[in-house]
Amino acid sequence: MVDRNGWDRDASEPIGSAHTPSDSFVEQANVSDSGIYDEFEANWPGCWERAADLLSWDDPYETVLEDDDAPFYRWFPDGRLNAAYNCLDRHLESGRKNHAAIRWEGKQGERRTYTYRDLYVEVNEFAAALRDRGVEEDDVVTIYLPMIPELPIAMLACARIGAPHSVVFAGLSADALATRMDAADSEYLVTCDGYYRRGDAFNQKSKADNARIGLEQDVRTVVVDRLGDDLPHVLGENEWDYHDLREEFAGETVDPVSRDAEDMLFLMYTSGTTGEPKGVVHATGGYLSHVAWTSHAVLDIKPEDTYWCAADIGWITGHSYIVYGPLALGTTTVMYEGTPDYPDRDRLWEIVDRNAVDIFYTAPTAIRAFMKWGSDYPDRHDLSSLRLLGTVGEPISPRPWNWYREHIGGNCPVVDTWWQTETGAVTISTLPGIDQMKPGSAGPPLPGIDARIVDEAGEAVAPGRTGYLTIDRPWPGMARTLYDNDERFVTEYWQRFSDPDAGEWRYFSGDTARIDDDGYITVLGRVDDVINVSGHRLGTMEIESAIADVDGVAEAAVVGRSSETGDTEIYAYVSTESGQDDDATIRRAIRDNIESAIGSIARPATVIFTSELPKTRSGKIMRRLLEDVANGEELGDTSALRNPEIVGEIQAAIGEEG
Ligand code: WTA
Repeated sequence: MVDRNGWDRDASEPIGSAHTPSDSFVEQANVSDSGIYDEFEANWPGCWERAADLLSWDDPYETVLEDDDAPFYRWFPDGRLNAAYNCLDRHLESGRKNHAAIRWEGKQGERRTYTYRDLYVEVNEFAAALRDRGVEEDDVVTIYLPMIPELPIAMLACARIGAPHSVVFAGLSADALATRMDAADSEYLVTCDGYYRRGDAFNQKSKADNARIGLEQDVRTVVVDRLGDDLPHVLGENEWDYHDLREEFAGETVDPVSRDAEDMLFLMYTSGTTGEPKGVVHATGGYLSHVAWTSHAVLDIKPEDTYWCAADIGWITGHSYIVYGPLALGTTTVMYEGTPDYPDRDRLWEIVDRNAVDIFYTAPTAIRAFMKWGSDYPDRHDLSSLRLLGTVGEPISPRPWNWYREHIGGNCPVVDTWWQTETGAVTISTLPGIDQMKPGSAGPPLPGIDARIVDEAGEAVAPGRTGYLTIDRPWPGMARTLYDNDERFVTEYWQRFSDPDAGEWRYFSGDTARIDDDGYITVLGRVDDVINVSGHRLGTMEIESAIADVDGVAEAAVVGRSSETGDTEIYAYVSTESGQDDDATIRRAIRDNIESAIGSIARPATVIFTSELPKTRSGKIMRRLLEDVANGEELGDTSALRNPEIVGEIQAAIGEEG
C-alpha cells in the first residue's frame, strides 16, 4: 500500500537489531511474567480488573464492560470513585504523607517540593475556593497555565469536586482559548499573570483577557501570580488571586465527590481532519485504571521511584503520565517548567543527576536534539540512577533510539510507547520486564489490546506491508465521545472500518503502520491532515484558514516537511490575489495571524509564494504533490494536473528560498 503521500514506505529504514532487557531489570520489574498476554486473552474483558484493582473504589463495580451501545462503550459502569482521592487521600492513609509527590523545577532555577500532604492541603483549599465561587459538579473548568505546580493542583481540585477540567496548552493563542471555552460552554477559567520565556516576562493574562472579550458567557477567573513584581497585573470583576483564595480557605477540606466511573474526568481538545478542534472526553474509572496500569506495567513505576516525564501537562502525555498515572501510584513525579537548552544544553541531565531520577520519558524530537548536541552534555553528569527510558509522540528511528539507550540510559531498557489523546493511555509498547526491544518499532499491542494493521477493505495486511492502524475491541482508557458531538465521534473514528449492521466495531487511529513476523508494530505516521510538530498535533486546515484570512492571500496549502534532523516542520504554499510572488507585508501578516489564531507553535518554518497552487482538473489542491515537492521527493506523473507548469515554478521558488 502507498500512503496518502504517495510513498511506499515499506522500503524505509529497517528495524535495528533487538535488545533483551537485562536480568537485573527483569528481576525487579513490576510485570515480568510473559504469561500475562495469554492471561489477558483468555479472560477478556475481565482481565482489565487488574487495572481497576490498582485503584480504590467507593463502590466496587460488578460489570467490567457494557457494550450494548457500541461504540459508546462503558467501563466498570456501576462502580464509583474519585480521581483526586486516588491520587492523594489514599496515600496519606497508607502512611506516605511525607513522601514527595511533586518535585518542581522552575525556569529560573527555582525548586519546590510538595509532599503528598502538602498537595492534599493545597488541592483541598483550592477545591473549597472553586466551590465557593460557584463551580458545581459537572461544570467545565478551563485551565490555561504553564508548567507550574498550580496546574496539577487545579486539575486535582476540579477532580475532587467532580468538575471536569479542560486544560488548554499555555502556548496557544487567545482565539484558540476562546474557541475551546465556547465549545465547552465553560464559565470558569484558571490562568496566571504570565510566565518566563528565556528570562523574559511573557504576559498570559492579556491573552486570557482577549479570549474573554469574544465569549458570550460570563467567565469567573482565578489568576495565579507567577511573576510577582516582574509583571504587575490588575484584577477586574469576577477575578480572584489564587494566593488570596488560598488564604481565605486556609485549612479547609472538601470531601471528594463520589463519581460514577463513567462520569467525565476531563476534556482535552485536539486537532482533527476538519478545522474545529475536537473535545475528547475521558471518563473517570476507565481512564484512571488504564493510566495507572500502564504506569505500573509499561513505565515500571514504583512508589519509591523518582519519575520524570518531560512533557507539557497541556497535552495528553502530561495528563496521563505527569499527573494521573504517577500520582495514582503514589510515586514522586518531577515537573519541569523550562526548555532542555536553557540555561545550557545539559539542563535535563543536571536535573536527572540532582534528583536521582529512576525513569525518564520524553519525545523523539527531543532525543534527536540531544543527539545533535552530542554526548558531552550527558557525560558531564551521573545518570546511573536511570533504570528505564521511554519515548512517545512520534516514530523514532533506530539511530536516535540507540543513542538514547546508550548515552542517556547506560544501556537500560527503552519503551517506545504508541498511543493518542483518544486512546487515553499507552496501547502499543513492549513490556520492559518481558519483551525484547526492537529499535524503530513500538512493539506488540499491550495485553488486552487488539491492534490490527489492515488494508482499505479492512483485511489484515501481510507482515512487512504498510496498512492502517486500527483497534478491535474496546479498552478502558478510550475516549468516550467528542464533547457534545456523538455523531462526529462515530464518523471520525469508527465509520471507516466498522460494520455496524453486523455489530462489528473497529477503531481507526488515523495512523499508518506495519507489523513484523513477531507481531511488533512500527508506526509510520498520520494519514489525515494532521501534522505532528515536536509532539504537537496540528491540523493543516486550522493553519490554512489562518493564512487564508490574511488580506491579499488567495489560497494556501500547508504540508509537513522532514528536516535534516528528522523533525517535522510546517511548510506553507501561498498564492496572493495580486499574483505577486513575494510580499514582506503578507509574510509578516501570515506569521501574526497564525500566532493569534493558534499560537507560535504553528508558525511555518517556510512560506513559499507561488502564482497558483497545483490543482487537479476538478479543482482540488494537490497536497500530496506539494508534500513531495517540499520533501525533495521524486515527483510522479503530474499530467493529471490542470496546471502542470506550476510545479516547475514552485521548485524554482524553493530553490531561491533554500
Ligand atoms: C503519534 C500523544 C509513532 C501518532 C500521546 C499518534 C506516535 C499521534 C507514537 C497522537 C509512537 C504517538 N510512535 N507515532 N510511539 N506515539 N505517535 O494525540 O501519529 O498528541 O496518532 O498523543 O502521535 O498524538 P497525541
